[in-house]
Amino acid sequence: MTDFKKEAIDLIFQAEIGLSKDEIETLIEIPPTYDMGDYAFACFRLAKTFRKAPNLIAEELVNKIDAGQYFEKIENVGPYVNFFVSRNKLTETVFNSIKAEKDKFGSTDVGGGRKVLVEFSSPNIAKPFHIGHIRTTVIGNSLYKIFKFQGFDTEALNHLGDYGTQFGMLIAAYRKWGDAETIEADPINELLKLYVKFNAEAEKDESLIDEARYWFKELEDKNEEAIELWQWIRDISLKEFNKVYDMLNIGFDSYAGESFYSDKMKEVIAEMEAKGLLRESEGAIIVDLESYDMPPALIKKSDGSSLYATRDIAAAIYRKEHYDFYKNIYVVASEQNLHFKQWIKVIELMGYDWAKDCIHIPFGMVSLEDGALSTRKGRVVFLEDVLNKAVESTLNIIKERNPNLENKEEVAKQVGIGAIIFQELFNSRIKDYVFSWDKTLSFEGETGPYVQYTHARASSLLEKGEFKLKDKVDYTLLKDEDEINLIRLLYKFPEAVLDATYKYEPSFITRHIVEIAKAFNKFYNSCPILSAEEDLKEARLMLVYCSKMVIKTGLALLGMEAPNKM
Ligand code: ARG
Repeated sequence: MTDFKKEAIDLIFQAEIGLSKDEIETLIEIPPTYDMGDYAFACFRLAKTFRKAPNLIAEELVNKIDAGQYFEKIENVGPYVNFFVSRNKLTETVFNSIKAEKDKFGSTDVGGGRKVLVEFSSPNIAKPFHIGHIRTTVIGNSLYKIFKFQGFDTEALNHLGDYGTQFGMLIAAYRKWGDAETIEADPINELLKLYVKFNAEAEKDESLIDEARYWFKELEDKNEEAIELWQWIRDISLKEFNKVYDMLNIGFDSYAGESFYSDKMKEVIAEMEAKGLLRESEGAIIVDLESYDMPPALIKKSDGSSLYATRDIAAAIYRKEHYDFYKNIYVVASEQNLHFKQWIKVIELMGYDWAKDCIHIPFGMVSLEDGALSTRKGRVVFLEDVLNKAVESTLNIIKERNPNLENKEEVAKQVGIGAIIFQELFNSRIKDYVFSWDKTLSFEGETGPYVQYTHARASSLLEKGEFKLKDKVDYTLLKDEDEINLIRLLYKFPEAVLDATYKYEPSFITRHIVEIAKAFNKFYNSCPILSAEEDLKEARLMLVYCSKMVIKTGLALLGMEAPNKM
């Protein structure tokens, strides 16, 4: 696509004002409204060098620059030189690029095949997969898709919480009170019950804690009974989790969880020891991080069993060896900020310069309208239930709005679950947000259903207009302000995707496609399409086609479907 900003920079450069292209670029701004141009060159900072008032510099500069083919006009307003992009050139480049690139439009090759690992979701085995997990799951999946789109060789990793002292508890509890059949019938709830019961009993009888410790140690030492129980619990839990992943249409390249690293830790601990990092403290082995203003990283407990941080360190070293990653990304709640800072610091202290490539991508909390989520208070809201409810409510809405629609159930799934994903990715990830049913499922406003509906509207227009891609369309016929605004937003889609990539922030895409949908509907309401005379109709249908393509690509990057009818 033509890079109009670059063209503007070139023109200024050619005027020979003694600035390099890079210097010029830093002075380019995007004006707040289009009546002030698409790009503005600000002359304030030149006043000193030129010993002239910025207004005067701008005025003289304008006289030196010829607008050329890419700009309609170049104007001086105060200290600014404003560049107005040629509408024909804009439309031409957008249409040609989308026609050529189709669903690749918006991508770049910044990845260059480099390896990026995106670790996300990573729920704890035998615990409910609850609404709190939606964020890592959906944000991570979207980042995975975005990196792939940008030409990175990307892997989706699920670092399952399938290890740790809680398995000691579970094994001990199961051996006391468990029943295989009951658990198979409703694994997560029954395992949770066992877990809760164990904790309650342990408050009365402390010896249970020792028992749990014993069984975790046995698990680490590969006791057959312990391993068998652990494997079974892992399998049935994963089966439950996969139901949710299937609904969300999410897959992983690896489920190597914490347990996978259990036998890799000895070596890592020995390495830390050899590098003089370990210290004893109250019976435990730690890495002192006081000089970095952090509490110590716990490497080994007093009973010899290993810890969460140690497993993360072992995992990162394994991943570096196994994947030789360019970036190793962790999509994990901001509650774990300290944990990540600590163990990444330990990696650095071990002398690994790739510590800087281990990147924690934090996000804020989700709460429900009627109060905060709390597993402890038993207010567990299962993700599966939320997704099912969204599908059900959407089905009711569809039945009302479009009773004749075929495959209503399928569409309700795509829209209902899409609504949840969209809502999740609409806010910048670091913000806490309150989950609202009404807001999420509405077909109006900044929602998933609204964007999907716009996509379906575009599809139906193309179908009714019997649209086919043509070699030539007279795009100069598109002059209406609403048409141009839509085209401008399509032009800026690649930039939005790039921003999302570099800032690890899918919301840039979410918000951009909402803007495209709004602009599309404005265009749809103000410009007759199917009833326009033939050439104009062709040009407008081409705009519909381009809009549909970009919305669909944007939705796909968020992990959403784009039904053609709804
Ligand atoms: N299983 C953990 C939890 O549910 C999240 C794991 C995050 N990833 C990691 N590498 N520590 O809290």
